[in-house]
Amino acid sequence: MRNKLIVALAMLCFPYIAEAKIVHMSTKSMSLVIDAQAGEEAKFIYFGSRISDDEIETLRKTETPNLSAYPVYGMSVQAESALSVIHTDGNLTLDLAVEKVGETKGKDAKVTMIELKDRHYPFFVSLCYRTYYEEDIIEMWAEYSHKESAGVMLTQFASAYIPVRYGDVWLSQFYGSWANEARIDEAPLNHGMKVIKNRDGVRNSHTAHSEIMLSLDGKAKEKTGRVIGAALCYSGNYKLRIDTDESNFHHFFAGINEDNSEYSLAPGEKFTTPELALTYSKDGLGGVSRNFHRWSRKYKLAHGSVPRKILLNSWEGVYFNTSEDRMYKMIEDIASMGGELFVMDDGWFGKKYSRNDSRALGDWSVDSRKLPGGIQGLIDSAHKNGIKFGIWIEPEMTNTVSELYEKHPEYVIKPAHRQPTTGRGGTQLVLDLGNPEVQQLVFNVVDTLLTNYPDIDYIKWDANASVMNHGSQYLADNQSHLFIEYHRGFAKVLDRIRKKYPDVTIQACASGGGRVNHGILPWFDEFWVSDNTDALQRIYMQWGTSYFFPAIAMASHISASPNHQTSRAVSLKYRIDVAMSGRLGLEMQPSQMTAEETELCRKAISEYKEIRPVVQFGDLYRLLSPYDRKGAASLMYVSPQKDKAVFYWWKTETFMGQQLPRVAMDGLDPDKRYRVMELNRIDDKPLVYEGMVFSGEYLNSNGLEMPLTHKVSVDRSRRNEYSSRVLYLEAVNDK
Ligand code: GLA
Repeated sequence: MRNKLIVALAMLCFPYIAEAKIVHMSTKSMSLVIDAQAGEEAKFIYFGSRISDDEIETLRKTETPNLSAYPVYGMSVQAESALSVIHTDGNLTLDLAVEKVGETKGKDAKVTMIELKDRHYPFFVSLCYRTYYEEDIIEMWAEYSHKESAGVMLTQFASAYIPVRYGDVWLSQFYGSWANEARIDEAPLNHGMKVIKNRDGVRNSHTAHSEIMLSLDGKAKEKTGRVIGAALCYSGNYKLRIDTDESNFHHFFAGINEDNSEYSLAPGEKFTTPELALTYSKDGLGGVSRNFHRWSRKYKLAHGSVPRKILLNSWEGVYFNTSEDRMYKMIEDIASMGGELFVMDDGWFGKKYSRNDSRALGDWSVDSRKLPGGIQGLIDSAHKNGIKFGIWIEPEMTNTVSELYEKHPEYVIKPAHRQPTTGRGGTQLVLDLGNPEVQQLVFNVVDTLLTNYPDIDYIKWDANASVMNHGSQYLADNQSHLFIEYHRGFAKVLDRIRKKYPDVTIQACASGGGRVNHGILPWFDEFWVSDNTDALQRIYMQWGTSYFFPAIAMASHISASPNHQTSRAVSLKYRIDVAMSGRLGLEMQPSQMTAEETELCRKAISEYKEIRPVVQFGDLYRLLSPYDRKGAASLMYVSPQKDKAVFYWWKTETFMGQQLPRVAMDGLDPDKRYRVMELNRIDDKPLVYEGMVFSGEYLNSNGLEMPLTHKVSVDRSRRNEYSSRVLYLEAVNDK
């Protein structure tokens, strides 16, 4: 009875389209079309700019490529496949036919499911599509289940497949390393297989990213040309494959990396792949980025419509030398500069073992030798100063030197018969999040903190190690499930935390930018772009990050000079101007700043409050790429109403007699007139056009001339080769 009721309810919310043959998933300006005739293989018909139903009929008759919508292995073994399995009886083939198509309309998105079944085996695949009409995004994923007599081994399980017509297609991808994340690499797609993958186990974006853009009209351009953007939304190991074979297509597959991760699917169990989010724009790379940013703010990122606070994070200011005096002083200092939040980083915990360096992780009780007044004392101090308080944790990890490890050595990831491989500090170990007891433990770390101190406003959630050795002490004979179960456990813990604590702000940090992925953003408000806070290198890293992620999610902090990572000396003005293009914060010891520097930061914080809505909710227009090596870089944000904009310009090289291109603006309303005001000014005199009004048309076509240096006569030490400008543009009411 109960089951029948559930089936009836399911049918109510998921009505099946009786005669569905052609499935047209469309958004405002994009179409994905699949031929799904019952009893036949589901075929790909079209993906690109939006077309009408009439056109689809014509297309079907004239130029439908003979391509599967989701190629599976076995009956055409030469081709790359999205899915391959070993059935219970050892058969390696799949032969899927459409059973039915279902559709459900939500408030913001529509979900379409094409249900497939193997012609012989009771093995089922659902191809799922969630369509966001306004944002021009389609999420694609697959679900598998079966009723065979025992487990079916999944050996390849891509979320989605899209063929892209062969031509002059260029791939934009992101690579990097710790402290050098999200570098852009752009090249034409050649014959053969291009594989972009990750095998870290815990984090997945220090090196290659799981997002790509494909420019269909030759070398990628910012403002023009047809571009496909694709982002796999997953926290774990992934693999993107583009096979350029002898056909007329580049075959793009994206999904979980199946290397050493074959999955034994039990009868009745459902396996759901992560989503691949896809967009298409005729407005170049910039168009794709703006689609992703809008969708990300609205549907992915936690609290995507809430302005972010301006904070001071203690790490580069004190590192592990946490003490009550230092924390109190930092709280006072950031509050007096107009900041809104203080975050105490690493080094605050440990009873038996004090966290004074990279060892002694895992015991999350306050070290009262360092903080006699405890966490409450810090919260009280923050409140007294009118700001909020945040705290650093790294709950997925422990150290060999910790009470946790002494009590529960079985909680760490390590293969049987072997000593575990250690990471940071020679002692760090990853906890086995596939183990429900470990999930409970990690949940408890956060739950205890937030229950004991409900006024904690912000958590910096760090993850500083990879899965270094393959072995779960929990999974017994299912060792190849390790990576997948780790991220299922991670999701379960974060789901529970978000259910109980929906309002707390959580930053995803993973030795810097190791967790920059849309798969984690529903639980996290932002991410730490990189442990490298050097302003010049940040321009490059934030540029790459901006291809898929909005500025509101990019934690971007003003740090000391010379920079602690690169040793580069950069003027405070420049450091401020770069940090102000993301979610502004400070990462330094304010007590070491001169009065003049403090004043400059105070002014910047106050001006950032003015422009915050434009930076955090506006549309991004990248104007001059640092990767083009023209001596400068520039971008701007424009409010959705186009009544306000913030323009950034940073010199990236300095030579005498230098000639730099003049940067045309973009995204302004040509019919509006804008007053120009410089922010963070250090020059003796205002810019010649300070306070003047220009039409959007003029600015979009010509931009404004940028002086190459700062004229500061009083204090020559403020002169520096790293000149930069931030302009605030406000539409004037001419009437
Ligand atoms: C990682 C983070 C840093 C800092 C340290 C603390 O490296 O990326 O921001 O929190 O850990 O140990």
